[in-house]
Amino acid sequence: MELLNNFSLKNFNTFGIEAKAKQFVAVQSIQDLRAILEENKSNKKFILGGGSNMLLTKDIEALVIHVDLKGKKVVKEDEDFVWVESQAGENWHEFVLWTIDQNFGGLENMSLIPGNVGTTPVQNIGAYGTEIKDTFVSCEAITIENQETKTFTNQECHFGYRESVFKNDAKDQYIITSVVFKLTKRNHKINTSYGDIMGELTNNNIINPTLKDVSNAVIAIRKSKLPDPKELGNSGSFFKNPIILKSDFEKIHQKFPEMKYYEVSETEVKVPAGWLIEQAGLKGKRFGNAGIHKNQALVLVNYGGATGKEILDISKHVQETVLKTFGIDIEAEVNII
Ligand code: EPU
Repeated sequence: MELLNNFSLKNFNTFGIEAKAKQFVAVQSIQDLRAILEENKSNKKFILGGGSNMLLTKDIEALVIHVDLKGKKVVKEDEDFVWVESQAGENWHEFVLWTIDQNFGGLENMSLIPGNVGTTPVQNIGAYGTEIKDTFVSCEAITIENQETKTFTNQECHFGYRESVFKNDAKDQYIITSVVFKLTKRNHKINTSYGDIMGELTNNNIINPTLKDVSNAVIAIRKSKLPDPKELGNSGSFFKNPIILKSDFEKIHQKFPEMKYYEVSETEVKVPAGWLIEQAGLKGKRFGNAGIHKNQALVLVNYGGATGKEILDISKHVQETVLKTFGIDIEAEVNII
């Protein structure tokens, strides 16, 4: 385990922003993680997973601990279900493909989401009608302060739309070290109801899709809309889809009858921010080295050499324009550092 000084984080954030860590260490075992925390009790620390949900706007004046714990295994099974545990540093998409290869169902709709397993509970990642809260059983975490181990059950995580206890009451207190998911071994709940999945399967003449077929359909849809961070720096959806009061929505909807929406409760509706940004005329717009993606307006991209500050300024411009056009506030989904 090597402590590196003045370390470039360019390859450790999917936006590909050049920013430095005062100190950097990658930990490959729980023992090393404990030792580093113990030795650096009084130093400022910053925990880094896959770097896929953050925008670095400045250097990090702290010890950056990159959680690189690897390993995945079946921990329990019965006739119908299997409980699979993954260490936090496993790449999410590779983990999903590994479950599908063994015909374990439940994660296929979340294929190709960037990032590592350990950060998936933090924002309850989701796509195409599924969120990790649907299969998440529990996660193990240790406290940064004194390395106590704690298990968080699904209920204790207080999952919501891109929300969890780790963004609220437990923020900055824990390092998630492993996660357990409960997946199906048979009678898979194939979910093709979201948007384009059905169309993609029909185009390929697939009537009774397998887990692999659904995963392939999701991969094809994502590839057509979402830029690959290896080719074009980005952090997936930069904004959350805003949830607004029905009473407010109705006033806006009268003015913009073609506005898309989904009911989330008796009093609230969710509006696709991508649609709002596109209608506000910003889709595909480029400002210097960064811009709004041409195929999915929710995604901000780094064309190369953009600073975090440049991207932050664009995000503010997007927020202001949407507010001016629709009277709706959109909130960043990524963490601004
Ligand atoms: N839309 C537009 N223009 C755009 C983008 C979207 O009009 O530029 C419209 C679409 O036509 C559609 C609606 O908005 O009617 C929803 O679009 P889409 O299905 O692409 O999904 P989204 O709401 O924009 C969310 C997640 C994505 C996830 C997709 C699919 C959030 C913030 N984003 O996007 O998650 O992949 O659904 O489930 O909830 C991520 O979080 O990083 C992410 C990529």
